[in-house]
Amino acid sequence: MNLSTITVLPVNCVRGTIACPGDKSVSHRYAMLAALSEGQTIVENFAPGVDCATTLECLTSLGVHITSDSAESSGQLSRLKIDGCGLGNLSQPAHPLDARNSGTTMRLLAGILAGHSFECTLTGDESLQTRPMRRIIDPLVSMGAQVTSNNNCAPLTITGGRLRGITWTPNVPSAQIKSAILLAGLHASGKTTVCETVSTRDHTEQALEAFGVRVERGENWVAVEPGGTLRGCQLQVPGDISSAAVWATAAAALAHSEIELTNVGLNPTRTGILDILRRAGAIVKSEIKNTLAGEPTGSIYVRYDKLRPVIITPAEVPYVIDELPILAALATHRGGGIKVTGAQELRFKESNRITALVAGLNTLGAEVRELPDGFEVESTKALVGGTVDAAGDHRLVMAFTLAALGASNPCTILGAQIVDVSYPHFFETLETVRS
Ligand code: S3P
Repeated sequence: MNLSTITVLPVNCVRGTIACPGDKSVSHRYAMLAALSEGQTIVENFAPGVDCATTLECLTSLGVHITSDSAESSGQLSRLKIDGCGLGNLSQPAHPLDARNSGTTMRLLAGILAGHSFECTLTGDESLQTRPMRRIIDPLVSMGAQVTSNNNCAPLTITGGRLRGITWTPNVPSAQIKSAILLAGLHASGKTTVCETVSTRDHTEQALEAFGVRVERGENWVAVEPGGTLRGCQLQVPGDISSAAVWATAAAALAHSEIELTNVGLNPTRTGILDILRRAGAIVKSEIKNTLAGEPTGSIYVRYDKLRPVIITPAEVPYVIDELPILAALATHRGGGIKVTGAQELRFKESNRITALVAGLNTLGAEVRELPDGFEVESTKALVGGTVDAAGDHRLVMAFTLAALGASNPCTILGAQIVDVSYPHFFETLETVRS
């Protein structure tokens, strides 16, 4: 299928059962920690998107041996065997590492590279080279790494080694910053503590424990001590709740819809979307069936009920940061509406997600107002349809698709291929649930 330009036709409703691809955040962490471990790690249901493949490529360039015994024809991987090099034992790559579009790859790897004494350059695509890196440079430099950058943006050149533990409070709530510091802390002398004013997704903490690292945690802080050994293990990545959220939100948007999502991660730091869909009127049930390496996993069921407007408060934003674009799209459906504030971080994602989202939805006929730190959507009439640009942002492709499902005419999305970053089979899955 040529995904570079895609035309989405309206639907009456969505119905069906979906197993979503492996969680992107968790997959990055499992691959990186496996690389730092003694022995082999087997990871099942590894995320199939380009972002996580990029992490694997970078790790391979750092001397890690990775094989897949279930390569699909598309070259995407799901079951991996990763032979760890041991903590602090990665090798200097022959060339700069390219994190492409992946902020998680760049920021978390920067933390790991800070613990290695060789010089290494991390670069990325045009979008990643504009994203703020000072947030990780400052703590890593405080720990003793040398980091040069292009005005606090990538490319970053890191020469690490001989780190000392620090106590750090990031100036924005961010799991990527927290994780970069904790990963560097594994290689430091002394304890490393990250304090958070708002708690962010805790996949790094859960994964560290799965690999045998003792992690101390309080209500607003997390700490690691150096000197431990990470041990290779067998892991299964839960389905990605941020991918599942698209279908859950579609069911909340369209009358007569009913969707079940199976084998999905239900980590409480990620389930904010479910509470908001309930507030928006939908019938939402979730059930934890298993806990895999500290990650609660289970099913989500969503049935349409009369859609209502919602307000997202600044305190809620970190729990739904990746779902705000699809919540804006939900708000364009009949009965919907949303006001989001305190979400200025959206301007520093794969695109300026406030400006690009507002522009795209307005082009399709929505009434959306851009705010400095958010947006406001009023739902007064069905979208008329049209052509929008995904702005190189996978989450905007999914958001515009969700808006398009309720339009009165087809909507064309330019650059829709970027959806491959997190959800390569997104449009095929849409075909299985549309009716
Ligand atoms: C992620 C953390 C979030 C999120 C991103 C993935 C992670 O970013 O938006 O998609 O895997 O740690 P921030 O840490 O910058 O908020």
